[in-house]
Amino acid sequence: MAKVIENIELAPKVHRLRVEVPRLVRKARAGQFVIIRLDEQGERVPMSIGGLDRDRGLLTMVIQEVGKTSAQLCDAAEGSELTDVVGPLGEPTEIENFGHAVIVGGGIGIAPIYPVALALREAGNRTTAIIGARSEHLLFYREELTAGADRLMVATDDGSFGLKGFVTTALEQLIEDDRPDWVMAIGPVPMMRAVTELTRPHKIPTVVSLNPIMIDGTGMCGGCRVSVGGETRFACVDGPDFDGHRVDFDELVQRQSQYKPFEKKAYEAYLGRRHECNLERAMKDVTTAGEGA
Ligand SMILES: Cc1cc2nc3c(=O)[nH]c(=O)nc-3n(C[C@H](O)[C@H](O)[C@H](O)COP(=O)(O)OP(=O)(O)OC[C@H]3O[C@@H](n4cnc5c(N)ncnc54)[C@H](O)[C@@H]3O)c2cc1C
Ligand code: FES
Repeated sequence: MAKVIENIELAPKVHRLRVEVPRLVRKARAGQFVIIRLDEQGERVPMSIGGLDRDRGLLTMVIQEVGKTSAQLCDAAEGSELTDVVGPLGEPTEIENFGHAVIVGGGIGIAPIYPVALALREAGNRTTAIIGARSEHLLFYREELTAGADRLMVATDDGSFGLKGFVTTALEQLIEDDRPDWVMAIGPVPMMRAVTELTRPHKIPTVVSLNPIMIDGTGMCGGCRVSVGGETRFACVDGPDFDGHRVDFDELVQRQSQYKPFEKKAYEAYLGRRHECNLERAMKDVTTAGEGA
C-alpha cells in the first residue's frame, strides 16, 4: 500500500502525485520507473520517476490523463492508498561527466528529465534543459528546471512562451551556438525520433527513454519488445533508455497502437461513471443546502 500525500493539478489533465514509498525511494535512481496498481483488479500502469524526496520517503510522479487508469490516478484523493507501487524498475540512466549535457523533455516527458538533470549536474556536467509543450498553460516544472539545470530553454508550438516552435527548434539553435556533447530526450515518440534525426548528422550521442506497452515489467511477457540496432530488447529490463540512433521507431509506433480500440472503450466507460458521480455529488450538495435553509 502507498499513501497519496499530495495530488496537485499542474496543467489541464496533468497531475503531480506524491506517494509515500520510503524503501522504494531509498533505492530508486534517475531514469527508472515504477508500476502502479490501483486495486486488486486494476491494470498495471508504468510511471516514470519525476522526483525523489529521500528524507521524507516520497516519490513524485507526473501523470497525464489519457485513459481509464491514468484518469483514476488523477482523481486519487490525498490520504487515499494505492494498492501497489512496484519498483524501482528498469536500468537507471547511465550518468557520466559528458561535458555539456542536454536533456530534452516534451509533454509529460518534462517530469522525468528533472531527476536526470540533477544527477548530471552532480556528476560535474554543464547542463541545458529544453522543454516544450503546445502552449504556455501546458508547461510545468519550469521553476524546478530553472533551479535544477544551468540553462533552461523553452519552446511552445504557438509561441505563447519562449521560442515559437518545437523542442527541436531550440535544440537546433543550441547545436549551432553551444554544441552538446550528449543529449537525452524523453517524451512522445515522434518528438524523440525528431531529436535523434537532428543529432544524427552531428554525431552527438543521443539517449531516448522508450515507453512501449508494458505488462509485467519483469522481462517475462514480451509486451515491451523493441528493436534496437536490429536486436530485440525489452524496455522494462534492458531499458527504458536506449541509443536513439539505433531504435526502430516505425516498429515502436506500430506496436503502441495495437490496443487503441480496447483502451478507448474502457476510458469512455470510466468517464461515464465519473460524470454520474459528479452529478450525484451535486444533487447531494443541493439537497443538503435546501435542508439547511
Ligand atoms: C517506462 C514508462 C514510463 C511512463 N511514464 C509515464 C509518466 O511519467 N507519466 C504518464 O502520464 N505516463 C507515463 N507512461 C505512460 C503510461 O503508462 C500510460 O499513459 C498509462 O498506462 C495509460 O493507462 P490508461 O489506462 O490511463 O490508458 P489506456 O486507455 O489503457 O491507454 C492509453 C495510452 O496509454 C499507453 N499505455 C496504455 N497502457 C500502457 C502500458 N501498460 N504501458 C505503457 N503504455 C501504456 C498507450 O499509448 C495507450 O494508447 C509511461 C510508460 C512507460 C512504459
Ligand atoms: S513488460 Fe513484460 S517483458 Fe517488459
